[in-house]
Order: sequence, then C-alpha cells, then structure tokens
Amino acid sequence: MAYDIGIVGLGVMGQNLAKNIERHGYSVAGYDLDQEKIRNFSEAAGDSAAAYGASSLSDLAMSLSAPRRILIMVPAGNPVDSAISDLSPHLEEGDILIDGGNSFFKDTERRFAALQSAGIYYIGCGVSGGEEGALWGPSMMPGGEQKAWEHIAPIFQAIAAKADDNSPCVAYIGPRGAGHYVKMVHNGIEYADMQLIAEVYDVLSRGLGIPPQELHTIFSEWNRGELQSYLIEISADIFSQMDPETGNPLVEMILDEAKQKGTGKWTSQNALDVGAPIPTINAAVESRILSSLKSQRIEASKVLHGPDPIFDGDRQKMITAARQALYAAKVTAYAQGFGLLHLASEEYHYGFQLHDIARIWRAGCIIRARLLGDIMTAFRTEAGLVNLLLHEAFRTAVEDRQSDWRFFVQQAVGMGVPVLAMSSALAYYDAYRSERLPANLTQAQRDYFGAHTYRRIDREGVFHTEWKQRSSTS
Ligand code: 6PG
Repeated sequence: MAYDIGIVGLGVMGQNLAKNIERHGYSVAGYDLDQEKIRNFSEAAGDSAAAYGASSLSDLAMSLSAPRRILIMVPAGNPVDSAISDLSPHLEEGDILIDGGNSFFKDTERRFAALQSAGIYYIGCGVSGGEEGALWGPSMMPGGEQKAWEHIAPIFQAIAAKADDNSPCVAYIGPRGAGHYVKMVHNGIEYADMQLIAEVYDVLSRGLGIPPQELHTIFSEWNRGELQSYLIEISADIFSQMDPETGNPLVEMILDEAKQKGTGKWTSQNALDVGAPIPTINAAVESRILSSLKSQRIEASKVLHGPDPIFDGDRQKMITAARQALYAAKVTAYAQGFGLLHLASEEYHYGFQLHDIARIWRAGCIIRARLLGDIMTAFRTEAGLVNLLLHEAFRTAVEDRQSDWRFFVQQAVGMGVPVLAMSSALAYYDAYRSERLPANLTQAQRDYFGAHTYRRIDREGVFHTEWKQRSSTS
C-alpha cells in the first residue's frame, strides 16, 4: 500500500498530527530515530491499515505515494538539517518536504534554496496550537513553492482547525520562509498577549489583593465578552487550580521565572532589522528576561525601595479599568504585530495577505481570539490599511477605552507594580498619534556632535549648523 503522507519525528506533536491525519481518512507512515517511538506508533495504529511504522528512512520513502509528502516534526535547529540530509538520498525530483516545527525563517530560506536546486519542494509550515491543536486541529501557516502547496492542501485543509464560519485555519502564506516568518510573529504577539494578561494579574492580585479564586470569576466573565480568547480562558482555568500538595492555589506555588525558546526574541530582533516599532512585544520579551534574573531581584528587593503596592481607590472602577486597558493594549499589540508583517512583506517580498493571516489565526492557534474576526474584516475591507489603529472600528474601540487605560497605567505606576507591556502599548499609541515628536532635538544633537545634518520644517534641503561648541575649559 502507498501511504498518503510520511512523518519524520514521532514525538507528541508528530504523533498527534498523525492521528489527526488518519482521523480525516488519509494514511500515514511514520519514522523516528528512536525505535521505541516507532513501536508506540505502530501499536497505537493497531490493525488500522492507515498507519505504518517504517523501519528506516528508505522504508519510509518506499512506502509513500508519489510525489512523496513528508512532514518533518523534529526540534528546530540542527535536527531539521540532519533530518533533511538523512532523507535526501531517498527522495526524487518533485517530492515535498514540510518542516512543521518552529524553525527560524532564515534557516527555512536557506533550506528552501538548497533543496530547490535538487528539485525538491520545501515547505516551511508554522503550526500553532500545541499538542491538543495538533490532535484536534491546529492553525497552520505554510510557505514555500505554491505548486507544492497544491499537493498538500487537501490534507492540511482537512486537519486544520475550523473557524466559526467553518473555514479551515490554513492558507498558503507566501514564498520561501514566509510561513515560518508569520509563525514567528504569531509567537511575538503571543508573548505580548501573555505579558499583558500577567501584568493585569499582578495589579489585581498584588495591588488589589484579589485572590486567584476571585480572579477565576473575573477572567471567566471577561472571556464571555470582547476579550474572549484562548489565553484568557486558560488563565481563568489556571486561577481555579489548587495544588494538591499544599492546598494553595497552584499559580501561587509556581516559581516566577519565565522561560523562552526564542521565537519571541527573534521577532524583536527581526523587527529592529526591518525597522518596525513593536515596543509591546519587546517589553514582553524583556519581561521574561527580567523575570529570569530572580537572584538579582531578590537582592535588589532588599535595597531598592518604592511604594507599597496597595490600591485604596474604588475597586470596581479599577477592575473595569483593567478589562478596558487589557483590550486597548491587546489591540495595540496586534497593531504592532501586523505592522511588522506589513513592513516585512515589502522587505522580503513575501506578499502577505494580512486578512488571510488574521483569518487563519481565528481558531486552533494560541492567540485565537474573538478580536481576530474583527481584524480579518478590517484588513479585508481596507486593503491598504497600514496600521490597525487607523481602522475606524479599532480607532473607536481604543478611544472609548483610553481614559480607563490611562487610569490603569497611572495607578500601576503609582503603586510601583511594573507594567512594561501595558505602558509601552500606551506610549506607542501616544507616539503613533503624535504629529510632532521630539526627534527634532535628537537631530539637533546629532548635528551638534557629529555634523550629521538635519532637515527643516520650513524649506527643502539638508542643513548643518556650526553650533556654539562648549570650550573645554568652560
Ligand atoms: C504555538 C506556541 C508554541 C510554543 C512555543 C512558545 O503557537 O503553539 O507558540 O509554538 O508554545 O514554543 O514557546 P516559548 O514560550 O518557550 O518561547
């Protein structure tokens, strides 16, 4: 029997995707360097003729229908290169390799180019939704040769998450590394979204003394409205989880050091290259870094003093402000992420369709949220939209929440509770809406010390001034 698709890498993600593919009527052959994983895969398949545990890569290659479709589900980095070089001798022209891991988009570009010369199609496919998503429907972001996409589209459309309108959360993203680029930005937004929620949690729990059980109720309520999203939903769940060992809320027993695998950092690094301002994503990455300096923070907390984080105002007003601030900041973080995609699309000639990207993020992925339906509509109805905040619906939504947003940030700052992401979003909003920024002074300073020149507001041209230099003795 010739199998429809092969999977190399039978970790949880690979196995769950295999089950998902099988459930949709396609047959899968799987291979892993670890023989035990192959045994587990074969055992799980039981008598089903739709799954086959291959004994080697050549066995895998021989078991697949032509052109071969092989999904690589191994950790990003060197394991992907090894999988490709081990597979290569068994491939023929026209075969399709798909990398479904969180690979860096420039690695995908390199692999795409190398395989293209050998006549092999390479698809870099962002896959979001974790283990559950892989099993029941992820959001998928494939990029590469469009011709190859056509060969894998039926399977991917079948296994992808379905949005409310039943459309599959997968779309051809663009050439070369475009799919992994979009997944990277998805993760940058994911970091920002998570950090904004964490800051609201900090203000409400430390500042207002609201216990996790009550936060569960507040977040559950928020999840029924405009903030409805996977991340709010799981936060509500987390607040209600007790630690069986101590009987305390589990969240309070978890060490406050956030880890990261690098996708958020890549987003920040690349945004600097592309020239896209994404301060809220940057603040989220830096908040994780700050959190990881736990031992330094412990020492600093003994000698660096600030106000006691005690809120003594109208609690209900503050909880409402938190909700409004969270929504406004979240819209702003998405505006930054999509702004980056807009600029990157030009820089790398990716031809992103921003409405399509919003469409496939509506279900299956970690940042799925009610908001994404509105973002999709905004980009669909206004093709040239350069910033989400300029779209009427979002402009109004943020304007309506502006005073609550400022109140929330002011109170947090007054209490000394750090709100790096929330305040950076507000500062971005204020900077973006400022016709005039103090960059005139920056230009004057550059010209003063380095003769870097400046332009004037009243006439064309490039100018330099012999500024009154301070003498070394004065
Ligand atoms: C997803 C997630 C997933 C994973 C990342 C983030 O979209 O399913 O983003 O890719 O959780 O690895 O991990 P870090 O927080 O460790 O960077």
